[in-house]
Amino acid sequence: MHSSERGRPPSGAAPFDHLIGRVVDDRFEIITLLGSGGTSVVFEALDRHTGSPVALKVLHGLDDAGQTLRARRFAREAEVIAALDHPNALPLFAYGLIDGRTPYLATERIDGETLEAHLARGPLAPLTVVRIMDQVCDVLATAHRQGIVHRDLKPSNITVEPIDGRGGDWVLVRVLDFGLASWRTRGRLTMKGALMGSPRYMAPEQALDRPVSGRTDLYSLGVIAYECLTGRPPFEAPTPMAEMVKHVSEQPAPVDERAAMPPGPALAALVMGLLAKRPGDRPLSAEQVRAELADIERELDPDLHDGERDTLSMASVQVMARIQARRSVG
Ligand SMILES: Nc1ncnc2c1ncn2[C@@H]1O[C@H](COP(=O)(O)OP(=O)(O)O)[C@@H](O)[C@H]1O
Ligand SMILES: [Mg+2]
Repeated sequence: MHSSERGRPPSGAAPFDHLIGRVVDDRFEIITLLGSGGTSVVFEALDRHTGSPVALKVLHGLDDAGQTLRARRFAREAEVIAALDHPNALPLFAYGLIDGRTPYLATERIDGETLEAHLARGPLAPLTVVRIMDQVCDVLATAHRQGIVHRDLKPSNITVEPIDGRGGDWVLVRVLDFGLASWRTRGRLTMKGALMGSPRYMAPEQALDRPVSGRTDLYSLGVIAYECLTGRPPFEAPTPMAEMVKHVSEQPAPVDERAAMPPGPALAALVMGLLAKRPGDRPLSAEQVRAELADIERELDPDLHDGERDTLSMASVQVMARIQARRSVG
């Protein structure tokens, strides 16, 4: 996967070139750049303990003023993904410091593409969107139960991989980048008043710096689903601030009016419900969204039997097995 959020490397990426070829902690041999985001550079590395490729996420922007906070948040991300242990999230292999000062975390390397790259080729079929939403909600349900809110759900923080032997409607989804996650029981790791998250996918309460909850992530999921179905996010504006204002105060155009393929009334209603301005008007929980998605999936694909619905979880089981095999070697 070679992509970077907003299509350019972060300003801190270039000084990280010297890491290519390095062996970190006598274990991870850094091979090549995979991608980058707002806080980090992600490399492919060879895990010498297992012989498998891994992703090494390295915090960049070392000499900034906000660095201590970012390093603590990076450690928090490692804690969060270790706590999650979900087949649609990334397993954590290691966490440490390069040269005693630059934090890194090693996870499974995803052999797919970001949903952002996937969407660049055009909108998706409703059935595919349902299956993507279902898997994201599966991760969210697990996270929310533990008091973890992702706070930065967006297409560049989600990957999709084709599932072998299946048609194009079937993809395996992973939710990445818990770098901004808040953990209810462990206090806030953000500066009051500092904007955290991505304006294009941001719930009104997050834009207003009010308390977030699981339903904040559900709003972002609604924005993502809307973009998957129509090819465009519900709100676009020339500046991040103007985008946030729209999330707070403008009603989105009905998704079925803009969708490339008719989503049907139930999916359209669900997506619009996720985009409700007030958290209390959105679905109650990720579990509730999953229950609705199961009905919608049956409606969109009447040939699907309940046994078949388990195919997706089967894929998850296979991933789990792969991960466990890798862990026992490591
Ligand atoms: N495990 C992985 N396997 C492959 N590519 C990855 C992996 N993790 C991240 N990437 C790539 O790196 C990019 C940035 O990673 P991310 O965790 O989102 O960092 P940031 O916190 O800086 O946004 C992602 O958008 C993706 O393209
Ligand atoms: Mg990211």
